[in-house]
Parts: sequence; C-alpha cells; structure tokens
Amino acid sequence: MQLKGKKVLITGGSRGIGKCMIDELVKEGVRDIAVIGRDKESLKALRHSFESVNFLFVRGDVGDVIVLREMASKIEDEWGGLDILINNAGIVSAGPLDEIPDEDIYDQVAVNLTAVMVLTKYCIPLLKASEEAAILNVSSGLGLIGMPFYSVYSSVKAGVRQFSDAIRRELKPFNISVTCVYPTATDTDMMKTSKAKEMDSPEFVAERSIQGLMAKKLHVIFGGQQRLNDSKLNFESPEKLDEKIAESYEERREASLLHKAM
Ligand SMILES: NC(=O)c1ccc[n+]([C@@H]2O[C@H](COP(=O)([O-])OP(=O)(O)OC[C@H]3O[C@@H](n4cnc5c(N)ncnc54)[C@H](OP(=O)(O)O)[C@@H]3O)[C@@H](O)[C@H]2O)c1
Repeated sequence: MQLKGKKVLITGGSRGIGKCMIDELVKEGVRDIAVIGRDKESLKALRHSFESVNFLFVRGDVGDVIVLREMASKIEDEWGGLDILINNAGIVSAGPLDEIPDEDIYDQVAVNLTAVMVLTKYCIPLLKASEEAAILNVSSGLGLIGMPFYSVYSSVKAGVRQFSDAIRRELKPFNISVTCVYPTATDTDMMKTSKAKEMDSPEFVAERSIQGLMAKKLHVIFGGQQRLNDSKLNFESPEKLDEKIAESYEERREASLLHKAM
C-alpha cells in the first residue's frame, strides 16, 4: 500500500510512538492527518513539528464517546472519507490487582479497548468510502502473554489483538486491511515510571509499524526471537512459562508498583 495522499486519523499522535508514526507517515507523503489527544499544547506543537501537514484536531479523551463521534463527523465534513485509522492512544496502571484503584481499571478498559472498538465502528463508513483502506491497532507484547502485575493492561491489550483478528475477517469484503502491532518496552513517557532497562526507541517501533501497515501484515511483533519463543511456549505449555516467570516474581512485583501513566 502506498501512503502518498492518504488521509489518516491517529489517536495519541502528540507524543511517543504516535508522534513518531506521524513522522513516518509524512516521510511517505501523507499530508492530511487527524489527531485526538487530551493536551492542547502538545497538539498545537504538532503544527510546528510538521509544517507540511494539514492537521484536523479534536482535543479530548478517547474514553469519551462524544469525542469519538465529534472526530468522525469532522472527518466526514472536511474530507468525506478516511483511508487509514491508527488506534494508538494508550494508558497503563500496573501493580497487584488488589492495589490498582477501581478507576484505573475502568479507565484502562475504556481508553485501551472500548475506544478502539467504538472509534473503529464510527470510522467504518468513512473507510468504506476509500479505494484502499487500512486500520493499524497498537496492542502490546503483554497482549500476547499475560503478565503478573499487568493483569488489566495485559487483558485489554489481548482484547485489541482479538478485536483485530475479528474485525479483519469481518471487513474482508471491503478491501480494508487490519494490522495489529505488539511493541515491547519502548522508551516513551509511558515508561518513565517503569524500571525497564532495555527499551526499543519509539522511532524504531513507529518505522516497523508503518512498514507493517504498508505491507498489509496481520501482526508485527517486537521483542525478537525470545518473544516469539515465549508466545509459542505460552500457547503450547503455559505451565512451563509460569515457572519461568515465577523465577523473577518479586523483582516483577517491585518493578510494577510505581508504573503508572494515565
Ligand atoms: N511504551 C511502551 O513501552 C509500550 C509498549 C507496548 C505498547 N505500547 C502502546 O503503544 C501506544 C502508544 O504508547 P506510548 O508509549 O507512545 O505512550 P505515551 O508516550 O504515553 O503517549 C500516549 C499518547 O496517547 C495519548 N493519550 C493517552 N491517553 C489518552 C486519552 N485518554 N485520550 C486521548 N489521547 C490519549 C497521549 O496524549 P495526551 O496525554 O495529550 O492525551 C499521547 O499522545 C499505547 O497504546 C501503548 O499502550 C507502549
């Protein structure tokens, strides 16, 4: 798929992996980009970083259905259709489940999963108006392997994986490809309160993700051969992976306690 001239909507394009994805899109010739984000200043700063882009902004929380509806109708009014939807915005609140505040559980489901489904729903008529459309969903390595102290985040990211498979099959007759990406620890604001030592750069994750979208790959998995081996083990002999993860139980618990980016 060529991206030149395509019209793109991305959630959470103001920072981190999303902003690097915008950089990749611009390099590929995209000029019309719609962005949803909460922080006004970060959105405004995008205009300075990418002067060649005609931006459409809706400032707000993707967990709020009104914000999603507003963006879909703005795109319909301004562009009449959409070529690419990138569901990227995400938040995390880790720790033992009985210590995660209730609102952090509800918000992680709303932002990381419900918003992905509802925004996709609103965009389907717009994507059907495109000659060649695509959806890129950002899951996580934890969406492939459920990790202790990330029970909520792992679950909603697994939901993004399952949603991607289901909707890809549902949209098959309409020439809308669906790619799901699974980054591992990536050096963005989201990881500032984590204790991860080795991280991918957001530029690397964005480049491989957009390449995957262009190649219409179904899944783009980060973390190298180790992650692939662990995923296989998780499917075939989960109890063996349980033992391996248990070896670093206390280290994982301790590392999760302050990890929060909401
Ligand atoms: N970093 C990692 O290690 C890692 C690993 C695996 C998967 N991921 C996934 O990759 C995606 C991007 O993460 P990142 O690391 O780039 O995070 P980030 O640097 O914290 O950026 C998050 C982006 O999402 C926006 N956002 C967050 N909550 C929002 C909300 N409720 N409504 C609207 N916009 C919202 C933020 O803008 P505002 O704050 O202005 O709203 C920001 O633009 C997420 O889905 C994340 O789960 C990240």
